[in-house]
Amino acid sequence: MGMLYWKELINQCEGCNKCRLSENRTHVVFGEGNPKAKLMFVGEAPGADEDRLGRPFVGKAGQLLTKGLTSLNLERSRDYYICNICKCRPENNRTPLEDEAISCLPYLRNQAALIKPKIIVCLGAVAMKYIIGEEFKITRDRGKWIERKGVYIMPTFHPAALFRDESKKALFWQDLKQIKVKYDEIVTMKV
Ligand code: URA
Repeated sequence: MGMLYWKELINQCEGCNKCRLSENRTHVVFGEGNPKAKLMFVGEAPGADEDRLGRPFVGKAGQLLTKGLTSLNLERSRDYYICNICKCRPENNRTPLEDEAISCLPYLRNQAALIKPKIIVCLGAVAMKYIIGEEFKITRDRGKWIERKGVYIMPTFHPAALFRDESKKALFWQDLKQIKVKYDEIVTMKV
């Protein structure tokens, strides 16, 4: 990856004023992890903790996800990169509006173009909608792999949804385990 271009992208994103979410942010939450990872997670938008710290998935839902991945020996600093559709927090954690997501998407596309992940996990319906399309339904399609241009994409629940509905936990865990199986296949693949 061109290091210069990566840093340039971060700088651009941190100075972004393309949508109204820039007006109330404390920090832009660009993303974190290994930018050379084969695995990329994409959530919705930063929450209060993320906005305060400038880091993705560090609040209650993020800690649950991080713990689950650690238990599968997947570490953020080494094995994956994690970011969001929107890089700035919507007030009261409302769902990002379509124009906010659309104006932020070029940052995600550039992140993906530089990272070149082999696996992309959409965390929740918002990430799923903007990455794989409107026609997908999270309850119906979670846990299913979609292949696009040699990249395996899986939607699963957003970890915050697990706090609202305990019955989703087992399915979420099942999905994480499938992601680990695919990850091991890909990192050990010769050719
Ligand atoms: N929820 C998200 O979608 N993203 C974060 O970074 C934190 C919580």
